[in-house]
Amino acid sequence: MNCLFCVMLRLLLLSSQAVDASEYANNKFKYSFTTNSTPVRGTIDRYKKACAASTNAESVSEANTQFYQQEASKFKRQIRDIQNLNRHILGEALSSLSLKELKNLESRLEKGLSRVRSRKHETLFADIEFMQKRSNEGLSRSVLLLFKNSFNTPSILETWINGTVCCEWDGVTCDIISGHVMDLNLSLLNLQGQSYPNCTIFSLSHLQQLDLSSNYFFGDISSTISHLSKLQSLDLSFNSVRMRLDSYTWNKLIQNATNLAELHLGGVDMSFIENSSMSLLTYLSSSLISLIISQTPN
Ligand SMILES: *[C@@H]1O[C@H](CO)[C@@H](O)[C@H](O)[C@H]1NC(C)=O
Ligand SMILES: *[C@@H]1O[C@H](CO)[C@@H](O)[C@H](O)[C@H]1NC(C)=O
Ligand SMILES: *[C@@H]1O[C@H](CO)[C@@H](O)[C@H](O)[C@H]1NC(C)=O
Ligand SMILES: *[C@@H]1O[C@H](CO)[C@@H](O)[C@H](O)[C@H]1NC(C)=O
Ligand SMILES: *[C@@H]1O[C@H](CO)[C@@H](O)[C@H](O)[C@H]1NC(C)=O
Repeated sequence: MNCLFCVMLRLLLLSSQAVDASEYANNKFKYSFTTNSTPVRGTIDRYKKACAASTNAESVSEANTQFYQQEASKFKRQIRDIQNLNRHILGEALSSLSLKELKNLESRLEKGLSRVRSRKHETLFADIEFMQKRSNEGLSRSVLLLFKNSFNTPSILETWINGTVCCEWDGVTCDIISGHVMDLNLSLLNLQGQSYPNCTIFSLSHLQQLDLSSNYFFGDISSTISHLSKLQSLDLSFNSVRMRLDSYTWNKLIQNATNLAELHLGGVDMSFIENSSMSLLTYLSSSLISLIISQTPN
């Protein structure tokens, strides 16, 4: 539209110049022209203005086009650079690189690789940790279920169900990361029976607290209790008077569980323990806070 408009305008201008040139030759014509041409001049002036505005608009849109072309070529250049870098990272098209560029590329790759490796190790470590946790948890579960099944009244441990997470069972507390049972509190559950000398829970070697107090356990305490080398608290009090701890087991326990802070053996028959063995308690003198022993006379 604009273009057509301008062409018309130029034609009009040319014809007006032709008229202007002829005015010298013909004054009469000039007269008639000036008298008659006032509206024509105005129209021409308006067309001139419009044309100037229109060429302005054209130059603006031309500038825009130039700008976008520059932008586009900038993006193209960037894309080409990224594609080149990508090829360089893959070890391709290296012949165009200078020694300095190669060194730069090398150090970038080394930094990136070390980050990738450390992330890989982290991921791997997390996977291993998770699998270890599940395996520890599974092992603990089977040990605890065996213990439960050794009683005539297993219904007391009703939350202890095969197929569920044993760390959520009543009386069981696990380490969040490793899944090892750390704390086993079976106090006051009316558990009754001779779970000794082959008590399975003594294989939970990460136990830090074991409370079997106020039940009806009887018989010799298994010497395997000495495997609980990480025990900090052991409570076997208020069980049957026929619950016994012999010298051998006592010696091993005291020598291995060197972190014991609480040792409650009230009511446990310790009459078989020699005087010299009792003095082993001095091993624990640095850790022991609370000691309850009441030897039952035989
Ligand atoms: C627990 O369940 C699994 C699979 O269902 C079985 O193999 C295992 O013997 C069960 N453990 C106990 C102690 O019942
Ligand atoms: C075990 O649980 C009983 C009662 O549920 C509580 O009195 C006792 O302090 C607990 N033992 C430990 C070692 O936390
Ligand atoms: C514990 O030992 C007794 C005999 O010594 C045996 O009859 C029983 O099956 C054993 N229990 C477990 C859980 O191994
Ligand atoms: C001492 O504790 C460790 C770790 O639980 C165990 O391997 C070892 O057999 C225990 N020693 C004795 C004499 O029970
Ligand atoms: C152990 O010590 C007590 C009291 O000190 C003493 O009466 C007893 O005879 C001793 N027993 C042995 C086997 O030495």
